Amino acid sequence: MRNFLISAFVFMLILPVWAQPEGFNYDESKVPVYKLPDPLTLRGGKKVKTVKTWEQKKRPETLRLFEEQVYGKIPADLKMTSFRVIEEGTDTPWPDSRRKQVEMLLEKDGQELRVGMLIYLPEGKGPFPLFLGYNFYGNHTVTEDVQVVISESWVANNPSFGIVHNQLTEQSRGVRTNRWSIGEILKNGYGLATIYYGDVDPDRNEFSDGVHPFSYRNGQTAPAPGEWGAISAWAWGLSRAMDYFETDPDIDAAKVAVMGHSRLGKAALWAGAHDQRFAIVISNNSGCGGAALSRRKFGETVKRINTNFPHWFCDNFNAYSDNENSLPVDQHQLIALVAPRPVYIASAEEDLWADPKGEYLGGFYASPVYELYGRKGLTSPDMPGIHQPVMNHVGYHIRAGKHDVTEYDWIQFIRFADKHFFNK
Ligand code: GCU
Repeated sequence: MRNFLISAFVFMLILPVWAQPEGFNYDESKVPVYKLPDPLTLRGGKKVKTVKTWEQKKRPETLRLFEEQVYGKIPADLKMTSFRVIEEGTDTPWPDSRRKQVEMLLEKDGQELRVGMLIYLPEGKGPFPLFLGYNFYGNHTVTEDVQVVISESWVANNPSFGIVHNQLTEQSRGVRTNRWSIGEILKNGYGLATIYYGDVDPDRNEFSDGVHPFSYRNGQTAPAPGEWGAISAWAWGLSRAMDYFETDPDIDAAKVAVMGHSRLGKAALWAGAHDQRFAIVISNNSGCGGAALSRRKFGETVKRINTNFPHWFCDNFNAYSDNENSLPVDQHQLIALVAPRPVYIASAEEDLWADPKGEYLGGFYASPVYELYGRKGLTSPDMPGIHQPVMNHVGYHIRAGKHDVTEYDWIQFIRFADKHFFNK
């Protein structure tokens, strides 16, 4: 017992260090002086003064830069071949609710990609507004529900979840229920749809699997320098879920909030920027390449993310490793692409790796575009205190604790959706 307590104590001591790799800046006074690109100035120098110029000139210009230089272009004409409800039931862990499992299938030239989506809806007559978000370890990890199908896609090993040999098993059922406040979501009249992100593109530096090969020209084996990396592939998958919602009368496709945590928060932001059918976009602890400003170089940097996760962004993004000032865009402009739709950014106090202040400032510097539409963004350059959410068209909170998704986060996401969907 004593040994256990000592190791638990040592573990607690090293935990913050482990969450924040060494050799990176966590000191606000060492943030370099930087100048952000103005989201409302055209590259030729002309100021954007009207919604029309934003929508016809600056928005497309900004979107193109993110496509070509950051995430890589998503093929416009690649769609699922079919959607099939493979299972339905009311035997869920929550009263007054039901479950649907949908198989989204892409078939092309003898290849197949199967993406499984798990949906919970409140009982009764819809159509229901809904949160859509990817999960990290399979649909069966978000719930104890024994009916949920286990994905057969490749997964990173995680022995603490019983995941060895890169395969999901029964052992990991329910291991991530803590991250999904499904009862709360349903009780408030929303549905939840979730997909294992590895069904769309396994998270490894390998371009022969997942959806990428479906876009290759003859003889091509990897995306070209401006073509889609993994984050773009995951964003593509979220849009395909949206295609399904448009066909399902139980779901209000005009009220879908796309949410993601961490790398999947980067994907949610990019999906929401790219596909304007998402009515609300929520980024949780998305950090570098998500809501955080790259030029601050606080916590994770462009160089580190390109080195550790070479498959996430397009190859052109490598040119900005240790060279952030030459980026033609910064992440505030990604958030601005969501305008005028409500966007919510959530940070965690101990998640310095994701740069909470940089995430806040991403929202703050996106706000002039919201103001162009007469919407209120983040009005102060100073962050609000812990647990003091701001619910404007650009919303934000920072909560106590570490890199994670908690019930506190979900309660704010629901409040934000209530406010902007229903004026509650
Ligand atoms: C790593 C990575 C982050 C990412 C995170 C996650 O920490 O450096 O950029 O957000 O993984 O997805 O959990």
